[in-house]
Amino acid sequence: MNKQTVETHNEQETADFAARLSMELGGGTVLALHGDLGAGKTVFARGFARGLGITEPVSSPTYTIIQEYKLPQDKWFYHMDLYRIDDYRSALAFGVEEYLEDSNAYILLEWPLRIKELLPTSTRHIYIEHLSENSRRIIVE
Ligand SMILES: Nc1ncnc2c1ncn2[C@@H]1O[C@H](COP(=O)(O)OP(=O)(O)OP(=O)(O)O)[C@@H](O)[C@H]1O
Ligand SMILES: [Mg+2]
Repeated sequence: MNKQTVETHNEQETADFAARLSMELGGGTVLALHGDLGAGKTVFARGFARGLGITEPVSSPTYTIIQEYKLPQDKWFYHMDLYRIDDYRSALAFGVEEYLEDSNAYILLEWPLRIKELLPTSTRHIYIEHLSENSRRIIVE
């Protein structure tokens, strides 16, 4: 997965981009999804899940912090929303490290800077910028 920048003009394009990206990655990838409220992180996560072949609905895990989706061959997709986490200590308390270390998992983090102290050095960073009501710039670093 190389560095890339795209501009999307609706929710569907963002989801499609994420779906394509998920198919380029292997398990054991931690993706930090940066962006303001309403930028499109959950839309991205939904497309990403679809690319992995997940058919269950992917909703915002805000109230559960983490949603787990089982994939074939003992792989997993973990979707975390850390908005309500105060700092990395409270994330440690719910066992975030075990998720981050799971080499059989695709891990997507909304509000990743809440646990910046814990992000693996191999974390890939994705920035979603709000350009206008329906346009977003997505930067994959
Ligand atoms: N190009 C676009 N890409 C993604 N979402 C878009 C786009 N244009 C409009 N939208 C709308 O922006 C909203 C994005 O919401 P979403 O829940 O994905 O944001 P979020 O970054 O997860 O916010 P939060 O931090 O609250 O979890 C949706 O209502 C979606 O329809
Ligand atoms: Mg969200």
